[in-house]
Amino acid sequence: MPLLEVRNLSKTFDLAESPFGGRRAGEVRAVDDVSLDIHEGETLGLVGESGSGKSTLGRLILRLIEPTSGVVLFDGVDLVKANGSELRRLRRDMQIIFQDPFGSLDPRYRVEDVIAEPLILHQKIIRGSLSRDARRQRVRELLRAVGMDESAMPCYAHEFSGGQRQRIGIARALALQPKFIVADEPVSALDVSVGAQIVNLLQQLQHDFGLTYLFISHSMPVVRYLSTRIAVMYGGKIVEIGSTEQITTQPRHAYTRKLLAATPEMAAS
Ligand SMILES: Nc1ncnc2c1ncn2[C@@H]1O[C@H](COP(=O)(O)OP(=O)(O)O)[C@@H](O)[C@H]1O
Ligand SMILES: [Mg+2]
Repeated sequence: MPLLEVRNLSKTFDLAESPFGGRRAGEVRAVDDVSLDIHEGETLGLVGESGSGKSTLGRLILRLIEPTSGVVLFDGVDLVKANGSELRRLRRDMQIIFQDPFGSLDPRYRVEDVIAEPLILHQKIIRGSLSRDARRQRVRELLRAVGMDESAMPCYAHEFSGGQRQRIGIARALALQPKFIVADEPVSALDVSVGAQIVNLLQQLQHDFGLTYLFISHSMPVVRYLSTRIAVMYGGKIVEIGSTEQITTQPRHAYTRKLLAATPEMAAS
């Protein structure tokens, strides 16, 4: 059984209610009848141009937004119907890494609090008790797992470079030992060499913790490097899905060929 089963998933936004739509009337079908599986331990790359619906699909899969129609099964459990304790368990198992994890965060938070927050929230829910010392110990472990150390704990997140901030965001995502992570353009805001380090870190963490990834990017080379399989998205639809080898050497869909041709080093190979 796949870890995730997505069946006929669609999301329509009403433009009148949209922050982007202004006064335009009508609807945009951001995700249009998408079906796919994600297997335990794999990295499914999701590639497509800006506006093709990648982030909306990632958020639907995590149920950060409600679908217009369709089904998402995680570990065999219907995510759209789940509620109460079942949904909380699923929420712990599924996390997201953003392009800039601190774009939306209060700069008054210290690194220790940023990483400990999911632990504290979760403790409240399960009414468990992790002592403050145990929690700090866990934060130290998480920082080490992402290649940092405890000297970062009292600092503010915005004092760090983009690459270090992304490491802190990853540590936070790992705090509750998730099984599945959606990484939404996690290296798109970084320099190539810093991005490569983050990509390698994600691979290492996958190996160490048995993680499954949905890795979203507009960049075919990045997706090719990291993915077991690749799904190509265009206009809200998955136009092609296959092994990384098949997609990059024998693309079937014209749009996939266009994406490959737009990447000189790949068109040549
Ligand atoms: N909250 C929203 N309200 C209205 N339209 C949205 C919203 N979020 C995304 N969209 C629209 O849905 C489409 C897909 O967006 P998105 O999923 O962000 O694409 P991508 O991540 O591939 O760039 C775009 O046309 C975008 O404008
Ligand atoms: Mg996006």
